[in-house]
Amino acid sequence: MEIKKVTKAVIPAAGLGTRMLPIARAVPKEMLPIVDRPAISYLVEEAAKSGITDILIITGRGKGAIEDYFDYSPEYEEKLRESGKEELISSLRAICRGVNITFMRQLETKGLGHAVLRAEAFAAGEPFAVLYGDDVIFSEKPVVSQLMEIYQKTGLGVLGVKQVSDELIMKYCTLDAKPFSDNVYTVSDMIEKPKRDQIITNFAVLGRVILPSDIFEILRETPPGAGGEIQLTDAMRVLARRDGMMALDFEGVRYDMGSKLGFLIANVEQAAKNPEFGERFKDFLKEFVSKLT
Ligand code: UTP
Repeated sequence: MEIKKVTKAVIPAAGLGTRMLPIARAVPKEMLPIVDRPAISYLVEEAAKSGITDILIITGRGKGAIEDYFDYSPEYEEKLRESGKEELISSLRAICRGVNITFMRQLETKGLGHAVLRAEAFAAGEPFAVLYGDDVIFSEKPVVSQLMEIYQKTGLGVLGVKQVSDELIMKYCTLDAKPFSDNVYTVSDMIEKPKRDQIITNFAVLGRVILPSDIFEILRETPPGAGGEIQLTDAMRVLARRDGMMALDFEGVRYDMGSKLGFLIANVEQAAKNPEFGERFKDFLKEFVSKLT
């Protein structure tokens, strides 16, 4: 069977973001910045660098700022042109260059699985990447392209995973993962929110997956699970049990921008690496830390 190239990606960004209240009432959590760019900008860049040509962003009520961010901005451009800062104009335009971005609304926030099912017409008959809208990953090689390599070799759905503590895995989902090759595993089952004695491995799916389009027919049959929401994990479990899936312990640092602590850590770590003011920021941090009691 011919293994198709992955050229499409879905970014679900319609969640309410209750962990980021109160700001999530007015600012989509996917628009919270790491230094000077919103989380979702890093995701689009990662997808584009991985060779993705078409991106569908799933949004919802109150998420209009996401669409605005990927639009041109004539007012800023005019101002910059007047003040001779042409190079800034092209960097602003670069934000939406190179990929086709379309938007679709999830009318009801019925869960990540429900959001991904909105992409059925967009990705019909093709494998596609999913980048969870609030998971930003910094890596040498974009994580989506790391996963694509495994997909191209196996034709199976691929999960981006990392080992987490027992406490965290009990909140996520434990994978029945067996070593395949360096950092690559085969996955035959998963247990959502396992009890301590049900933990099979400490690998958790963190923010990136590649799925075959078969996932849509499974999602259509998936009943609401945890929290009354249609869970993507429940559908992936059916897929893993039926066809098998692969998992990659990817190279990269992942920030959970949907949590307050994750948002703060992302900003401190990335500000310290900033070429323009990172050194000054580190000096400030050293002094700040030295005064901590
Ligand atoms: P999360 O579970 O982290 O999002 O979903 P949430 O429900 O907004 O979080 P809290 O618990 O209320 O703080 C991961 C990604 O899936 C999207 C979210 O926007 C996030 O980027 N999502 C989630 C949807 O698009 N639709 C949904 O119905 C749920």
